[in-house]
Amino acid sequence: MSDINVGPVEGFSSDAGTVVDVGGTAVAVFCIDNAVYAIADRCSHAEASLSEGDVFDGEIECPRHGASFDIQSGAALTLPATQPVRTYTTHVRNGDLYITSNSSEDDR
Ligand code: FES
Repeated sequence: MSDINVGPVEGFSSDAGTVVDVGGTAVAVFCIDNAVYAIADRCSHAEASLSEGDVFDGEIECPRHGASFDIQSGAALTLPATQPVRTYTTHVRNGDLYITSNSSEDDR
């Protein structure tokens, strides 16, 4: 496991997801109510970027077919998705956002 510095946290919008590279994996970052969430930027149902989804009440809605995922756990909450999406641990240190990558899981 390693912490990846993805830049100043103030550079991440609270209005939309931002895609960053974490160990070769695209990860969508959302800043909501002073919390930062990181979730793999690929819907588990098909090819869609979750960074383009809407977030409300702790859920992110896939922009393609509308499946919802728990933004903290990545659990699939509604069809057509049935499989979870990986989420990542985040923390802020000295104003920079770090995302924890587990390289063995990134190989999946
Ligand atoms: S691609 Fe996300 S619900 Fe179908």
